[in-house]
Amino acid sequence: MRKMLVAGNWKMNKTVPESLELIHALMGKLNDSCPVEVVLIPPFTALYPAAEALRGSRIQLGAQNISHLSKGAVTGEISGTLLISVGCRYVLVGHSERRNLFQEDDAMINQKLKTALSEGLYPILCVGESWEEREAGKTENIIGHQLKAGLDGLTQMEMRKMTLAYEPVWAIGSGKNAQPEQVQEIHEAIRNNLSSQYEPAVAKDIRIVYGGSVTPENCSNLMAQPDVDGALVGGASLDADSFYAIINAIK
Ligand code: PGA
Repeated sequence: MRKMLVAGNWKMNKTVPESLELIHALMGKLNDSCPVEVVLIPPFTALYPAAEALRGSRIQLGAQNISHLSKGAVTGEISGTLLISVGCRYVLVGHSERRNLFQEDDAMINQKLKTALSEGLYPILCVGESWEEREAGKTENIIGHQLKAGLDGLTQMEMRKMTLAYEPVWAIGSGKNAQPEQVQEIHEAIRNNLSSQYEPAVAKDIRIVYGGSVTPENCSNLMAQPDVDGALVGGASLDADSFYAIINAIK
């Protein structure tokens, strides 16, 4: 059985005091019997205080980005070692905002995944099509290519540390989530795609979460799909009540 994962990507939001307020509010709601793995992905500046606040809790910490290089004179970048040192377990790689605003291509994403894995992090690789690509019937091709190039050279063992996030670009921050059947269709296609390249257990066990305008209102139907193993939540993760409602709707 794949364990459901709900990750809150705070993007470029929350000062340190605001981060701590949100964490404390969430911790007050979640109890130890929660069957969902919860991951918070604050901005870099809040990672260390967040880790301190989360000490002893089952909530995991993730980072929004990682350098493709592992160390040295790389001004402005953050390595896997630095992320591990502040308590991160997960790291987002290939988010569409990084692909589109910072021109991160699949080769760069592949390097980031390899660096993250070699340093002991568990990457969450985001893939997804634009609205034009969907309209042109290219969704599965685009995602197939993102997977092939992004995961190139990863071993079966490394694949077991990966989580995938299907995030249609048109659904991110738009208030227009993909329909549960559309999401199931793509998640199933991703699993089939992986099963042609990796051991059957890799394709069967890998977690594939959905992201793009997930809210407390729409999440139950999305999460009820057989190949949907959780959610990557942006906007609705910035408020303890709505993020908790999403986690709670999954149980
Ligand atoms: P959203 O963001 O929930 O605000 O659409 C999702 C994401 O970017 O991961």
